[in-house]
Amino acid sequence: MLSEQFISELKGRNDIEDVIGSYVNVKRRGRNLVGLCPFHSEKTPSFTVYPDSQSFYCFGCGAGGDVVTFVRRMENLDYIEAVKLLAQRAGLAMPEDGYDDSFAKLKTRILEINRETARFYHQSLVSPAGKKGLDYLRERGLSDSTIRHFGLGYAPESWDAAIKHLLGKGFRVDELVAATIAVKSSRGSYYDQFRGRVIFPIIDIRGNVIAFGGRIMDGKGPKYLNSPDTPVFKKSRNLFALNFAKSAKEPALILAEGYMDVVALHQAGFTNAVATLGTSLTAEQARMISQYAGEVVIAYDADGAGQKATNRAINMFGEIGLKVRVLKVKDAKDPDEFIKKFGATRFRLLLEGAGSAMEFEIGKLRQKYDLETSDGKVGFLKEFAQFMAGIRNPIERDVYVAKIAAELDVSKEPLSVQIQYIIRQQAKNAEKKQSRDLTVFAAGAKERRDPQRTAHLKEALAEERLIGILLKNPDYHRTILERIQPEDFLTDFNREIFRVICQRLQEGRPVELIALSEQLDEVQMGKVAGILADAASTRATQKEAADYIDTILAGKAKKSPEELRQMDREQLGEYVAGLAAKKKP
Ligand code: CTP
Ligand code: MN
Repeated sequence: MLSEQFISELKGRNDIEDVIGSYVNVKRRGRNLVGLCPFHSEKTPSFTVYPDSQSFYCFGCGAGGDVVTFVRRMENLDYIEAVKLLAQRAGLAMPEDGYDDSFAKLKTRILEINRETARFYHQSLVSPAGKKGLDYLRERGLSDSTIRHFGLGYAPESWDAAIKHLLGKGFRVDELVAATIAVKSSRGSYYDQFRGRVIFPIIDIRGNVIAFGGRIMDGKGPKYLNSPDTPVFKKSRNLFALNFAKSAKEPALILAEGYMDVVALHQAGFTNAVATLGTSLTAEQARMISQYAGEVVIAYDADGAGQKATNRAINMFGEIGLKVRVLKVKDAKDPDEFIKKFGATRFRLLLEGAGSAMEFEIGKLRQKYDLETSDGKVGFLKEFAQFMAGIRNPIERDVYVAKIAAELDVSKEPLSVQIQYIIRQQAKNAEKKQSRDLTVFAAGAKERRDPQRTAHLKEALAEERLIGILLKNPDYHRTILERIQPEDFLTDFNREIFRVICQRLQEGRPVELIALSEQLDEVQMGKVAGILADAASTRATQKEAADYIDTILAGKAKKSPEELRQMDREQLGEYVAGLAAKKKP
């Protein structure tokens, strides 16, 4: 456990405004700052930083907490690691011992295992036993220097070659299982995760080997096998080859589907290529890409699946406002095959010719209609007008309208009028919808997740306000605890938060957000930050506290309809009398 003194020093030296400001573009609004939430996709800012309470809260997704919570989420770290990072940032030395860093130690251990495993696979590849793998990669057109650059490897066709090697290096088998290099069989023995595959190490931007992808060459099994998530690896938060691509000079990143596409692209000089890791693009990956590039060129496979994935990716990048172009691979199934067939120069031409996301969409629309016929033209123009109405920028709209009108040999004006009409219609509908939505929005996204909260909304709100009052006025805790205990809370979620706060207060320990974050998890911290944000505008008097306690106790005393049916007349009479008495303490 870290001392309160250290934590408060840490807090003093890491102003939340500065820390968040280095990750998120926030603008001052009154006492607070607002910006686009880094934890979910949004176009209008609902992410708020409260310098007064040194907290943040997102009204869109419910993420919130203090500076430690923020860094934990942003960097995907555990509590101690986040504290370490902030200590480093502030030039504070970490206290030597007295805290539990076993998880951080395990992570370090897994990274060491991964590095040694990568070395082992690479050695196997270039040893006589790895001939099959090396022949395969060469056959696919990779040069020795590319193979070295990516640290490609070969997992021998053996049940335990990697395990044996790693045990020999002093790692324990349970650590190998945690790294998912070893798998425990149902009989209790251990076997290698990767067998008889060529290996693509996955390396993060700090240069750590965090996972592996393995391609089968023949025989049964999935074509690619990827490491499952481990304490050091989350598929959804990493991109293959970003470690190289992040320092490419190009203003854009190329997003391909597969490992082989990326390796082939880098070999051909396109060192700004990355790929997802056996999953479709996630919002986190889209945000990462936007961190490193001002533009993304989607270069997915030419097949139907690739085109579908392209649509999806366009939308995801659109959400975060990153400029998108779409590269169409022609006469080959993917970038890898294209480069092998036609060479790097031809690929460069494809890249330069990559159209905007808009052109991709319009191209798809055109394919739906036979533009040689009048009916086809009319159908297309109707749908095109609908599509154009969705584009905000009038200049951009005008460019495409003019282009299409010329190509279809129709006049531009009626088309423009039609589009204007649709836009006005949509604006009217949106206005109506917005007034409906506002009331729903107030309920918030996070609340929908807690069925207990929904079932006891009135009491849950009282619980939260009571917590808010307690946080604003920790002195009240004695009087509050005289009347109500954590057990009296109706929702498990708030009860746990209340319990932690009360316990700390009774022990004379601080209850600022930064202190709480050592005991509360991210979701709980988010709630507390939200509660604090609400409490900022209330006076938080003893009287208010008493009213909220009444509400909670009355809710608790209320029997369910089922319980009421079970009572006889006398019991029912007592119960009702009791309810009435509780109303006036
Ligand atoms: N993938 C996977 N598991 C599979 C198949 C594919 O995880 N069983 C992932 C891999 O990350 C792969 C990507 O999806 O790189 C693209 O798959 P595919 O187009 O089938 O592979 P290619 O990269 O074209 O592989 P190759 O050229 O080696 O056939
Ligand atoms: Mn391929």
